[in-house]
Amino acid sequence: MNKTLVTGGAGFIGSAVIRQFINDTACSVVNVDKLTYAGNLQSLASVSDNPRYRFEQVDICDAAEVARVFREHQPDAVMHLAAESHVDRSISGPADFIQTNIIGTYTLLEAARGYWNSLDGERKAGFRFHHISTDEVYGSLGDTGFFTEETAYEPNSPYSASKASSDHLVRAWHHTYGFPVVTTNCSNNYGPYHFPEKLIPLVILNAVNGKPLPIYGKGDNIRDWLYVDDHARALRLVLERGKLGETYNIGGWNEKTNLEVVLAICAALDELRPQGAPHNKLITYVADRPGHDKRYAIDATKLARDLGWKPQETFETGLRKTVEWYLQNTDWVKGVTSGEYQHWVEKQYGGNSAE
Ligand code: NAD
Ligand code: DAU
Repeated sequence: MNKTLVTGGAGFIGSAVIRQFINDTACSVVNVDKLTYAGNLQSLASVSDNPRYRFEQVDICDAAEVARVFREHQPDAVMHLAAESHVDRSISGPADFIQTNIIGTYTLLEAARGYWNSLDGERKAGFRFHHISTDEVYGSLGDTGFFTEETAYEPNSPYSASKASSDHLVRAWHHTYGFPVVTTNCSNNYGPYHFPEKLIPLVILNAVNGKPLPIYGKGDNIRDWLYVDDHARALRLVLERGKLGETYNIGGWNEKTNLEVVLAICAALDELRPQGAPHNKLITYVADRPGHDKRYAIDATKLARDLGWKPQETFETGLRKTVEWYLQNTDWVKGVTSGEYQHWVEKQYGGNSAE
């Protein structure tokens, strides 16, 4: 793919995808991002001067602006990652999730379809739209079993219901209009540049600062963790070689209870940043998340079998890298936690960046 339009490229996973495109390939990227509280251009500082990288501060719900971006940049492919992504926020305020995840995906699909229809020959035949989604659309597992591509959708939170809706729209655009799509559903990511509202970065930073480490309920909910660069490599592979109209599940084969994750972070920090008492003394059990899904676990056999993907990091190596990254990258952390970054965006882009 010569030029890929990436939505949500200033976010956690989108920025990892863009850094890989610029550092590891000869491809060009157009990053389309509204810059909500979760979007951070500092995550792209290492590649933003590259002539193959372009940024457009655009809301994917703005049909005219999205159409302009397609017209001006003439991409060969779309990777759609822009979304509201935090489950707790979707519980306290679902409106933004309905707007961006459903209306935004619809708006983007229509703009992309209009653009695709304007292409011809090889450019039309080669175009593809890759929709990036989550394992949460499948609901919650009991003690055994895995989510496969055939598992029925049973979303339980406003976030996962909005992502499920977007998956269905993408599927329908393929079925009805022949629009060339691939969809991926991935498990929990972790790694550098992860906004510290999510469990792993929140616990690392709270522990470093001697603050309580909040564990919802009993800490026995299970997630299947994948290092973000492994996800980004899988996404690039699916974009290039995935079969149109198909779905691929992506997961790390790394099931952990939340308590196991928090204890592993504490153990790493006891070694890398000893602070007298063991960090696990900061663990605090708090009220459970409403409707909290018990267990997620992905069966990633199809991706391994059909496209030859396998993750490079184990949970142990990936977590170690992540903890070290947060200890070393204090400027990035300060930028996203102090409000400093938002002031910078306001100065650059006229104050329409964040809620
Ligand atoms: P994130 O919250 O870190 O980043 C989302 C990005 O989208 C931000 O840069 C934000 O500014 C941008 N954005 C939000 N609303 C927008 C709008 N209306 N128009 C344009 N840009 C907008 O999210 P993430 O964790 O990087 O997740 C990226 C995608 O991957 C999401 O679609 C998410 O559902 C999916 N996903 C995430 C995980 C995970 O563990 N984080 C796992 C599986 C799938
Ligand atoms: O499974 C993929 C999903 O993973 C993505 O689609 C979402 O965008 C992403 O945010 C993530 O959702 P989770 O809800 O699983 O991630 P989160 O980091 O918010 O929580 C992980 C687990 O830790 C979950 O069981 C809730 C629990 N938790 C979370 C926080 C923030 C706590 O116990 N304490 C906390 O403070």
